[in-house]
Amino acid sequence: ELSKAVVVAIDGPSGSGKSSVARGVARALGLAYLDTGAMYRAATWWCLHQDVPLTEVDEVAAQVEALPLVMGTDPAHPTVRVDGTDVGEAIRTTEISAAVSAVATNLAVRAELGRRQRAEIETARQTGSGIVAEGRDITTVVAPDADVRVLLTASEEARLARRAREVHGTDDAAAVEATRDQVLRRDADDSTVVEFHVAADGVVTVDSSDLDLEQTVQAVLDVVESVVGPR
Ligand code: DC
Repeated sequence: ELSKAVVVAIDGPSGSGKSSVARGVARALGLAYLDTGAMYRAATWWCLHQDVPLTEVDEVAAQVEALPLVMGTDPAHPTVRVDGTDVGEAIRTTEISAAVSAVATNLAVRAELGRRQRAEIETARQTGSGIVAEGRDITTVVAPDADVRVLLTASEEARLARRAREVHGTDDAAAVEATRDQVLRRDADDSTVVEFHVAADGVVTVDSSDLDLEQTVQAVLDVVESVVGPR
């Protein structure tokens, strides 16, 4: 039936555009939107805010288990609240970007945030709202049973240029160089715990190297339609 709550899972490396694409797909289909990377960022912000050294694996895990996190899943206006504070901007600083891998590679943290992500997805399924969930291990670990699973890829060149435009407002050679280390090192760190460069069985790869945002959203919408029919 047409109104069945659909669950779309999207993962991919840094700079693949997965956040913007996932939001665009959610808006187009009237689904909720869950940015799981924002949850790892919020966990990192909270630990730093509580003065917990990120190398203290057990202490970090305990803090994240008690993390008072509320995700707002409206794709037109996604929000991230920790203990009532809107941290939407605070979690995007270079300090958090540099620190987040230390938290995202903590296996107890992954278990806890994975549980919360599965709960959000289950709620969206039960209430009939449906959801687009985005992030590294969504298609494989968190929601391997999603109706539609997409690995969004892009060439290294395209990913670096995109991130340079986001961070520096330009993709000239200097800006790309300044971005290279951050993007590639973070992907290397993260890939020690999650594989997100190769599509798992049943996951459809969408290569956005030569597509703009609108075209990439459309390519994912085409995949959704091919799997669950016209919405
Ligand atoms: O997508 P992002 O840059 O906001 O992600 C922040 C960090 O969290 C990044 O290091 C990847 C990691 N992450 C993860 O390990 N698993 C997820 N499901 C989402 C993000």
